[in-house]
Amino acid sequence: MQGSKLTIQKEILILKFETQLEPLKLSLLKSLFIDSLLDQYSFDEAEALFFTTLNHVEQKNRTHLLFGESTFFKDQYFNVVNELKKNRPIQYVLGTAPFYGLEIQVNEATLIPRPETEELVHWVIQENKNTNLRILDIGTGSGCIALALKSCLSQAIISGCDISLDAIELASQNAKNLKLDVTFFQCDIINEEIPDGDIIISNPPYIAKSEKEQMDKNVLDYEPHLALFVENEDPLLFYKRIITKAKKQRSTLYFETSEFYYSELTEWLKSQELRYQWKSDFQGKNRMLKVWW
Ligand SMILES: C[S@@+](CC[C@H](N)C(=O)[O-])C[C@H]1O[C@@H](n2cnc3c(N)ncnc32)[C@H](O)[C@@H]1O
Repeated sequence: MQGSKLTIQKEILILKFETQLEPLKLSLLKSLFIDSLLDQYSFDEAEALFFTTLNHVEQKNRTHLLFGESTFFKDQYFNVVNELKKNRPIQYVLGTAPFYGLEIQVNEATLIPRPETEELVHWVIQENKNTNLRILDIGTGSGCIALALKSCLSQAIISGCDISLDAIELASQNAKNLKLDVTFFQCDIINEEIPDGDIIISNPPYIAKSEKEQMDKNVLDYEPHLALFVENEDPLLFYKRIITKAKKQRSTLYFETSEFYYSELTEWLKSQELRYQWKSDFQGKNRMLKVWW
């Protein structure tokens, strides 16, 4: 009895959200936004999604809730809720993702930048402060790695390449928006020679298609498969190709990888008599690798 009463109250609230034409007080907007999502998200997740949206739409944060008099038109929030209900990631809904202190535009042609990748960028910056060398980011996607590096290593000559023309277009737009001098161009790293780079950094595709079943639906449904999956069944294909091709120019290489490939990659690196160093991420997993000659 109590349960059905609560459901009706919730439905009324959600209906109010959908039909409301007047501006809403921030506190009411917040509870309507959250209630509309509780079928699919936990309260904490829905609340975090609300604050991300609030911050994006109005540049307002939690502190503004204390001043409860602000009112907002709900249309943009309602549109966001509708997209979130389809399990579309918030970064694609808002078209933007934070990365290493930068605001990066993303769309369905580009992977959503991950926190682990920020750690890789941090490592490269720490080891190459004041460098004026050429740095190449292979499989650049949104350009997040190349742009974050340029924002901290201003003297380095930085470029990024990707097989996807849509990704290159967005990465170039990000460079323009952020006023960072980074060149982006198309490449196919499996079938072509490797472009020049004294330092090469890459977060390549490394998931075998056979692993699809264990993956989250919102990743599978929305993120580009070209960015996630390796065409054949060897998840190490990109690492082996990039390392083998970079040998000629003796580049120093930095990779993001999965902790599941630690043993197999280590064995392969030993068999090639390469010098290498693993670095663990904030969860203690071996996810970053440096290779040199
Ligand atoms: C895992 S995503 C990384 C995106 C971005 N660097 C990041 O860290 O968020 C891998 C990228 O590799 C690109 N890619 C896939 N096959 C490629 C190929 N043969 N040559 C170059 N890039 C490729 C994809 O389009 C995708 O943008």
